[in-house]
Amino acid sequence: FKHDIFTGRSVLITAGPTREDIDPVRYISNHSSGKMAYALAEAAVEAGARVTLVSGPVNIEKPGRVKTIDVVSAQQMHDAVQENIEGVDIFIGCAAVSDYRPVEILKDKIKKDPNNTEEILELKLVRNPDIAASVAALDSAPFVIGFAAETRNVIEYAANKMQKKGMNMIVANDVSDKSIGFSSDVNEVTILAEGLQKTLPRASKKVLARKILSVASRGYHQWKRD
Ligand code: PMT
Repeated sequence: FKHDIFTGRSVLITAGPTREDIDPVRYISNHSSGKMAYALAEAAVEAGARVTLVSGPVNIEKPGRVKTIDVVSAQQMHDAVQENIEGVDIFIGCAAVSDYRPVEILKDKIKKDPNNTEEILELKLVRNPDIAASVAALDSAPFVIGFAAETRNVIEYAANKMQKKGMNMIVANDVSDKSIGFSSDVNEVTILAEGLQKTLPRASKKVLARKILSVASRGYHQWKRD
């Protein structure tokens, strides 16, 4: 790991889960702890970058020398990314963004059916904006690195996502294995890019973050030259 691979570069990273309110007391979310993204932010600082972290609600310590913007919902994460994307050289979408949110946030707490006859409660959801895809679609788009959390056909699904979202690189992790991925301190990933498939064996997220950035910097500098 070289300490100058991102000198003078600006890196924006999305982190953690998003939280989509249902009513004043309930929400939809997921198990992302933010550990992978925060490790990437620390490693990017060590690599010489200026780093902005747009983070959903997590319970881990904020990394030093990083501009952290706290958000809650996917829409807020999208807006914060758009407001801070100018001048960014490398975008890393590590957040586990809720694909859907409730159509409306109810003002009052949902009550149980008073007659106790209804066993089913339906929740209507609407698609959230795709944050990474909208960055990749910008006129002066940065180098876009995505993550893919998959439970099966990991490589195939990740490759499809990279292509569909217009990303330059994608880091796939198999979240069906409970010992890695979400919340764990360790992970195991396969990095995909055009002409590249590289598996990084199981290691702490801190170690992996540095390795991911080493591979990413080669991809970024080649993309810059082309
Ligand atoms: O936070 P940890 O506990 O450390 O766990 C790390 C992790 C498992 C969350 C991380 O390694 C990871 O895989 N993050 C991506 C998880 C995910 O939700 O992937 P996805 O397949 O739903 O999305 C694919 C890509 O599109 C991601 O880069 C995601 O940030 C992005 N996306 C998805 C939906 C959306 N509306 N906007 C997005 O930008």
